[in-house]
Amino acid sequence: MEKQTKIHVGLLFGGNSSEHDVSKRSAHNIYDAMDKSRYEVSLFLLTRDGFVLSDAASRRVFDGEDEATVAAAEQTKVDASNPLAPIWNLSQAKDIDVFFPIIHGNLGEDGTIQGLFRLLKKPYVGSGVLASAVSFDKDMTKQVLTAHGIRNTKYLVLTPENRDAYDYSTVQAQLGDNVFIKPANQGSSVGIHKASNAAEYNDGIEDAFRYDYKVLVEQTIDGPEEVEISILGNEEPIASKLGAIRVPDSDVFYDYNNKFVDASGVTFEVPVELSADLTKEITQMGLQTYAALGLKGMARIDYLVSKDGVPYVGEVNTLPGFTNISLYPQLWQATGITYADLIDRLIQLGLDEFKYQDELAYDFIPLDDHSAASTYKPKH
Ligand SMILES: Nc1ncnc2c1ncn2[C@@H]1O[C@H](COP(=O)(O)OP(=O)(O)O)[C@@H](O)[C@H]1O
Ligand SMILES: [Mg+2]
Repeated sequence: MEKQTKIHVGLLFGGNSSEHDVSKRSAHNIYDAMDKSRYEVSLFLLTRDGFVLSDAASRRVFDGEDEATVAAAEQTKVDASNPLAPIWNLSQAKDIDVFFPIIHGNLGEDGTIQGLFRLLKKPYVGSGVLASAVSFDKDMTKQVLTAHGIRNTKYLVLTPENRDAYDYSTVQAQLGDNVFIKPANQGSSVGIHKASNAAEYNDGIEDAFRYDYKVLVEQTIDGPEEVEISILGNEEPIASKLGAIRVPDSDVFYDYNNKFVDASGVTFEVPVELSADLTKEITQMGLQTYAALGLKGMARIDYLVSKDGVPYVGEVNTLPGFTNISLYPQLWQATGITYADLIDRLIQLGLDEFKYQDELAYDFIPLDDHSAASTYKPKH
């Protein structure tokens, strides 16, 4: 029998955000779910201080060896004076067909690594540079949503230049007594605070500015139902059933502690049964958001639904978690797409998107020269 050529996948994980360990768990699950008769997989762990480990070293960390020890030994093998030393190991994998970056947050989800893949001329899973960067920045996301008439909470943007003009009473007059304070480019609820008085507000702002020079102050949706949807696809994306996250005490929100320290009280309902109208509205808003932001491959979109049943798009995650308790794959499972099938589809979508981009012209073509015309037409 003829030997089938395997697709060589470069699975990148780790990174320097608060989700470093979550990323490791996501990568483990993705690796385990991949059909090894179809895929050859190289692992690349991006350490917290920005060094990409080789496949062999990444595998040792995958198998439980101490990351710092493995990384220290690995760094001595690379010429530190080479400006590309941090990513040297990536260049050693010459025959990668497609990268699967499952680095949540900073560098992985904000367009940075996607730019590197473009320089390397390699296909990759998920959204491109612009859609990733815009979706990672909560202010830019809201600007795009608002331009497309997609409902999201009222908010103000504070910067070091204008922050003195926004004391609590000024903000309170515009957004109400209770506000949420968030760094624009973060995740995992890091730097997020709820404020109901001047002292909480001042402390919250102070902390949020430690993470970004741009801080959002948002109108609060009281005791919201937190609903999530998974979207999958390029030009013709599909939407999953809906899921809900329930945090035990309505005084508390889905904060860092709930997510990673003590998640014992948090429950997920997958799928969640909402009214037909609300389900339809949330699904439509999800697909509109996906198109408006130019997302590719996948995204998990999170909503806050007010007590009177009005949904607001909360945030967009372009590289959602793939851990055992992560909602993105669970929602697909509830919708009828298995974990392994999901991985297959994501890889294929990455290859398709690359083919499309690869055939676009990047230099000037005279109008009468038809030789360079693209033959690839995206499916509509
Ligand atoms: N405007 C809001 N009203 C009510 N709760 C909010 C609001 N914004 C955020 N939250 C709460 O804070 C959590 C984290 O906010 P989110 O915008 O999702 O940031 P992150 O990217 O850190 O997950 C949400 O899951 C929700 O519990
Ligand atoms: Mg969130």
